[in-house]
Amino acid sequence: MSTGVGLSSLAVFLLLWLPSASSTPSCSRNGCPLGPPVVLIPGDLGNQLEAKLNKPSVVHYMCSKKTDYYFTLWLNLELLLPLVIDCWIDNIRLFYNITTKTTESPEGVDVRVPGFGQTYALEFLDPSKRSVGTYFFALVQAMVDWGYTRDVDVRGAPYDWRKAPNENTEYFEALQKLIETMYEEFQKPVVLIAHSMGNLYTLYFLNHQTQKWKDKYIHSFVALGAPWGGVAKTLRVLASGDNNRIPVISSLRIRDQQRSAVSTSWLLPYNNTWPADKVFVTTPSANYTLKDYLDFYRDIGFKEGWFMRKETESLISSLTPPGVTVYCLYGTDVETPDSFHYDSFPDKDPSIVYGPGDGTVNIESALQCRKWLGLQKQAVSLVELPGNEHIAMLSNVTTISYIKKVLLGV
Ligand SMILES: *[C@@H]1O[C@H](CO)[C@@H](O)[C@H](O)[C@H]1NC(C)=O
Ligand SMILES: *[C@@H]1O[C@H](CO)[C@@H](O)[C@H](O)[C@H]1NC(C)=O
Ligand SMILES: *[C@@H]1O[C@H](CO)[C@@H](O)[C@H](O)[C@H]1NC(C)=O
Ligand SMILES: *[C@@H]1O[C@H](CO)[C@@H](O)[C@H](O)[C@H]1NC(C)=O
Repeated sequence: MSTGVGLSSLAVFLLLWLPSASSTPSCSRNGCPLGPPVVLIPGDLGNQLEAKLNKPSVVHYMCSKKTDYYFTLWLNLELLLPLVIDCWIDNIRLFYNITTKTTESPEGVDVRVPGFGQTYALEFLDPSKRSVGTYFFALVQAMVDWGYTRDVDVRGAPYDWRKAPNENTEYFEALQKLIETMYEEFQKPVVLIAHSMGNLYTLYFLNHQTQKWKDKYIHSFVALGAPWGGVAKTLRVLASGDNNRIPVISSLRIRDQQRSAVSTSWLLPYNNTWPADKVFVTTPSANYTLKDYLDFYRDIGFKEGWFMRKETESLISSLTPPGVTVYCLYGTDVETPDSFHYDSFPDKDPSIVYGPGDGTVNIESALQCRKWLGLQKQAVSLVELPGNEHIAMLSNVTTISYIKKVLLGV
């Protein structure tokens, strides 16, 4: 056996050492040791987006053609109501140019990411702070209670989550600069805390830094609910859409937006995690495995998707170790879509076969960080969080207590 054994014991040790919420010593604002600075990296759909319009035409008379200001494109529930949702889709969707292999916004639509370096755009997806859009708030608020200050030593790194990392070069430059600035200001290496797809962004980022840079600037990487090897649910999202906890939205309507986001195809299951003969989708006329994506895209009537996948597949599929201390936290014991059966393909909702995971990320995918045990000299700790649902884990007291241990040692 390899050195992985020692590191596995460490992981078990950390699991046992995980404090229960009630035994956490209370440590209010002034009584806490000062922790390392923190950057938060959100997941897919995980931060606000804004848009400004000056469009040649609109899809419906109700839609605005021109605005003098940037308005919230994500998340504003009023834009997702019947009829007006068509305006929203026409603004948020991306065109994929199969020649340049890049996306473009529709003509006259300018989309921007507000709040880089601040936390508000990922604490609440909806600026009106309605509970449905609450995201990083509980964690950030807990950190403030421990002595952190918003936008000072805990900062957010939101991005255009519709795209994959290959189309977000400027984001990674800004992220690098943000980390260096925080390091200089606090004279301490920075902790990166990512959720969901934000972990794949973080891995890509770290894979593109020198070891020397990482040794200097990065304290550790806290990975929450990471889909390292993709997510089975993505096949359903691409085929028939998924209104994902927002019941007013029809799945087929939201499908156009979900297909147009390159990040959706980037998240399809990878052969680094699933066997080649695993059937994810069955229909009356075909079975689709991860070797059948070309046919799958053709049969759902979305041929550009194949180019999106090909262009992004290699970005992190080698799962190269990040080269920093990793705390890999993952939820289990929540029914998680594992495969789909369509009686009518692809325009009707499928029946779903569930497997283990956090409700979104399949356990096989979450556990891929295990591969790094012994492949990098920095510690890798795997922490199972039974009963933690993919989004709810960000507000779970046990999860937050664990993060406190990482940051403050108490
Ligand atoms: C794709 O990009 C190329 C090169 O910029 C351009 O010539 C072409 O018109 C674009 N295709 C579409 C459909 O916009
Ligand atoms: C996984 O897929 C990639 C991209 O299609 C391919 O290059 C690679 O050979 C595959 N690996 C295995 C083990 O099948
Ligand atoms: C799909 O796979 C199942 C189980 O292996 C098999 O019985 C069925 O014939 C296959 N369907 C098609 C259309 O190939
Ligand atoms: C929080 O996480 C712990 C540990 O996984 C779990 O036992 C508990 O049920 C979770 N609490 C809630 C409210 O989900």
